[in-house]
Amino acid sequence: MEGEVRVAEPGDLDRFADAFGPEQYHLFRSRASQWRRGLGEILVALRDGRPVGAVFVSWDVADEPAVRKYLPGVPVIFHLHVAAAHRRQGVGTGLIRAAERRLRGRGHTRVLLGVDESNRAARRFYLRLGYVQPDEPALRGLHAPAETYDILVADLNRA
Ligand SMILES: CC(C)(COP(=O)(O)OP(=O)(O)OC[C@H]1O[C@@H](n2cnc3c(N)ncnc32)[C@H](O)[C@@H]1OP(=O)(O)O)[C@@H](O)C(=O)NCCC(=O)NCCS
Repeated sequence: MEGEVRVAEPGDLDRFADAFGPEQYHLFRSRASQWRRGLGEILVALRDGRPVGAVFVSWDVADEPAVRKYLPGVPVIFHLHVAAAHRRQGVGTGLIRAAERRLRGRGHTRVLLGVDESNRAARRFYLRLGYVQPDEPALRGLHAPAETYDILVADLNRA
């Protein structure tokens, strides 16, 4: 069961600290200016009216030069997070599908995201949903302060 997914309202963000913990709350907050400027949006999954998962979708210019070069104009999914007690129940799948529907509605044909090299669960999750690792070497092994990550891409019109 996927549960309800909708675009987050400003008050929803305040509930993320309780739902997901302070680290996730701050990650979502760090995107608030993109959100306010209309360059992205947060989708939230609800169960019994409470947030159980969230994701940030951005159509702003990507942070990484390699992404800007090889995947120009492709929107980005950030910070997919499902509360631990609600994992393996389709919540993450529902959030990604909702994000993809909304991006298709905006006229995009592809979407990308970064997945940490050590995050085997997330990688398996995205591969199962049809995300693929591009051949371009510059899109592999990118460095973030605490991790090395790879870019994965999906065609928004895949079957
Ligand atoms: C990765 C994450 C978003 C998946 O969300 P979820 O709601 O549990 O995912 P779903 O229930 O929709 O899973 C769909 C499928 O993905 C795969 N999958 C999901 N979690 C997995 C895990 N821990 N190990 C292996 N495969 C997994 C499975 O094939 C699963 O289907 P199944 O349960 O029928 O076997 C969630 O585990 C999470 O929030 N993790 C911490 C944050 C994170 O790593 N985010 C990704 C950042 S790139």
